[in-house]
Amino acid sequence: MSLLGPKSPGGHPSRVRALPGASACALALSLLAGSLEAQVGSPAGPVPPRRLAARRAALLERLGTGVAILRSAVERSIEGDYPQDSDYREDNDFFYLTGIEAPGAWLVLVAREDGPDEVILYLPPRDTLAERWTGPKLGPGPEATRLTGIEDVRPAEQAESEIRALLRPADSPARRGALYIERGREEAQSGFFRDLVFTPSSTRPLRVDDLEYQVAQLRLIKDEDEIARMRRAVAITVEGHRAAWRAARPGVHEYELEAALEGTFRRLGAERVGYPSIVGSGINSTILHYDKNRRKTEPGDLVLIDAGAEFGYHSADVTRTFPVSGKFTPRQRAIYDLVLAAQRAAIDSVRPGITVARLNQIAREYLRTHSGDLCGGASCDRYMPHGLSHWLGMDVHDVGDYGTPLAPGMILTIEPGIYLPAERFGVRIEDVILVTERGAEVLSAALPREAAEVERAMGAAPAPARTAR
Ligand code: GLY
Ligand code: MN
Ligand code: MN
Repeated sequence: MSLLGPKSPGGHPSRVRALPGASACALALSLLAGSLEAQVGSPAGPVPPRRLAARRAALLERLGTGVAILRSAVERSIEGDYPQDSDYREDNDFFYLTGIEAPGAWLVLVAREDGPDEVILYLPPRDTLAERWTGPKLGPGPEATRLTGIEDVRPAEQAESEIRALLRPADSPARRGALYIERGREEAQSGFFRDLVFTPSSTRPLRVDDLEYQVAQLRLIKDEDEIARMRRAVAITVEGHRAAWRAARPGVHEYELEAALEGTFRRLGAERVGYPSIVGSGINSTILHYDKNRRKTEPGDLVLIDAGAEFGYHSADVTRTFPVSGKFTPRQRAIYDLVLAAQRAAIDSVRPGITVARLNQIAREYLRTHSGDLCGGASCDRYMPHGLSHWLGMDVHDVGDYGTPLAPGMILTIEPGIYLPAERFGVRIEDVILVTERGAEVLSAALPREAAEVERAMGAAPAPARTAR
């Protein structure tokens, strides 16, 4: 559903300082012998540098003439008294173009129509005191070049003055084209960016443009590495749903199902959830983004689980609705079958050239023409208060212009739902769709969708632990 804003790891800038009792942790020092693999930080492994270089080249091509400036994410201070962000998540655009997790970094791209382009990465120098507490970080040097494919890596303390110098001359690409910054980010309000944008350092004003839009249109078409990550995120998510089904029985709490689901995500290598898991039973299945997950299920409940593992910076987004007692009532089954058929009508229509708006119309039209008297004479599409689809990728509601016709390599969800609070149940079925040359591949097809298959899967003996591939 297209209701959430993009996930943005926010927080406060941080400094490391020594704490009382520091010596207790000094034992770990000898173990920090310089490996920077933590930078890679994921069973997904690094993004191949040639892939990163291709993304940067595509962005430079789009910009034509101009200077683009990106900042990495800001570390949060989770403990409150010292800055330890054990789950630091890099800014998506920064990660997309560099493949590294690097708080305090800058990426500058200089696009020239009539000369060589430049890519400069600025990294904070390594800090041995901080590394005692939180492990090795990437600093300027050959390791950064090896991971990113960027030859020109400089210390971050030089970034502001060098960027000012780059923008000052009348023939700067930023003045001949545009200065591209991520205007939606908090950092764009900082003194440095405000000075660049508002303080005239020359009589010729800079044209300032949104970098977010430019990167978003690139991120809309997933490359091979992104598709591989998404396949794995979805495979893990499918196993998570199956684990929740195995744990289901009347009387189980929603959070116990959440634990089965998310425990499986982590066990199979997901870094985190792509968004808060929705485990809604009974009346809670009618609350679109219910994520409290506190209720105790009762016999006859439907349970709606909408969850997605994040793997290698890519998030799945899969919903299934199932009967906690193992069998749908005839009424639940009738609504379920209608939602499923509407989903099928939309999925069957996915092909290059069609738009998300048109798919939405197709699903709604299906509901309008097949509701019969299921919704009391009204069309059941009245009970679907959300959109059918959204882009999916590094963000669960991924970036990109929704007017863009579908093209091979795009990934979207198809997720019709009917919610009937008066009857204390809702049904949503959501799958992950990769647009191909000829139509669609349902990446989440391994998770049963037909009502009878869901019932069968729920009645199956607990499956042994397995590994998603
Ligand atoms: N999981 C949120 C959504 O489907 O949009
Ligand atoms: Mn969704
Ligand atoms: Mn969802």
